[in-house]
Amino acid sequence: MPAAQLGRGRPRLTERYREFLPLTDSTPVLTLGEGFTPLVRLGRIGQDLGLANLYAKVEGQNPTGSFKDRGMVVAVSKALEAGARALICASTGNTSASAAAYGAAAGLEVVVVLPRGQIAAGKLLQAQVTGARVVAVEGNFDLALRVVRELAESASHPITLVNSVNPFRLEGQKTAAFEVCDDLGRAPEILAIPVGNAGNISAYWAGFRDYQAAGLSAGLPRMFGFQAAGAAPIVLGHRVEAPETIASAIRIGDPASWTKATAARDESDGLIEAVSDDEILAAWRDLARLEGIFCEPSSAASLAGIRRLSNEGRLERDATTVCVLTGSGLKDPTTAAASVGELLVAEPTAAAVTAILGW
Ligand code: F0G
Repeated sequence: MPAAQLGRGRPRLTERYREFLPLTDSTPVLTLGEGFTPLVRLGRIGQDLGLANLYAKVEGQNPTGSFKDRGMVVAVSKALEAGARALICASTGNTSASAAAYGAAAGLEVVVVLPRGQIAAGKLLQAQVTGARVVAVEGNFDLALRVVRELAESASHPITLVNSVNPFRLEGQKTAAFEVCDDLGRAPEILAIPVGNAGNISAYWAGFRDYQAAGLSAGLPRMFGFQAAGAAPIVLGHRVEAPETIASAIRIGDPASWTKATAARDESDGLIEAVSDDEILAAWRDLARLEGIFCEPSSAASLAGIRRLSNEGRLERDATTVCVLTGSGLKDPTTAAASVGELLVAEPTAAAVTAILGW
């Protein structure tokens, strides 16, 4: 193929936004095709809510099905540059799936420590199939994170911690904010996002500020973060010892980026509030049935929050509002299976199918 044509292919995320990333000429190039996810207008839900400019940033379309890949590609590239031989992380599932994939591509050993019995089936399989060694511990995510932090500090061989306390993760995750601005032609007025360990809300805010400072976007959004009611330490103002919610990705009681997240909230004149599991599931179902977007339940916390604020009359009707949908629905088949009816079964004839459909 002629070289000129090769150059017209899909750009690499880390190349597109290189000036904002901590990459040098000696950083190895690594990619699984992360980023460039679609910003989709939520026409039907927007109409129901009377919101004319409601959008979703569909992050489930990343290589491992979540936004984690944006930060992981940078963190693993930097780990390679530093001569790391192994990666370690704790996770509610998506970070471990992403670390396992990028670690495999980079030829690194990957160890993931997970809260036992609390990881959505698809995420656990992603880590296992891509060759990570998975250790399940009794307890919750916060405990698992404590364990890997200690391990990374005390390990005798070079092992890189790739949770979002690794600053390269948040640097990479800023690219989602750049893309939102590029797609809209300016910053949105409201950015709604689920909050768990609180890294992503912090990364988006840093991204919006960087882009504005570089003269590449006008305005700054108000940052609206949403935690699940049973795992809402930032809303409550204290740690939650036993966080509980159907939204397993954000089942976190002691977020690592707590201070950064409250700074993003306060500096942007935003808010961080809680949404119930019922509100999350209703938003999750509507995204699928009214918009054709199958995200994971945790992701729908963003829309659940916007819907609540809209119903309470706390939103401007024409404000450009972007809900971040952080992960793919395929990751959690168990929650999905519990929400659908019985399969219709028929003999393989048109008459039998017609009969069972009641046509
Ligand atoms: N949505 C999904 C699908 C997630 O997996 C996470 C975090 C969040 C939202 C919250 O983002 O932690 O930056 O506030 N998942 C982490 C993990 C904790 O281990 O996969 P956050």
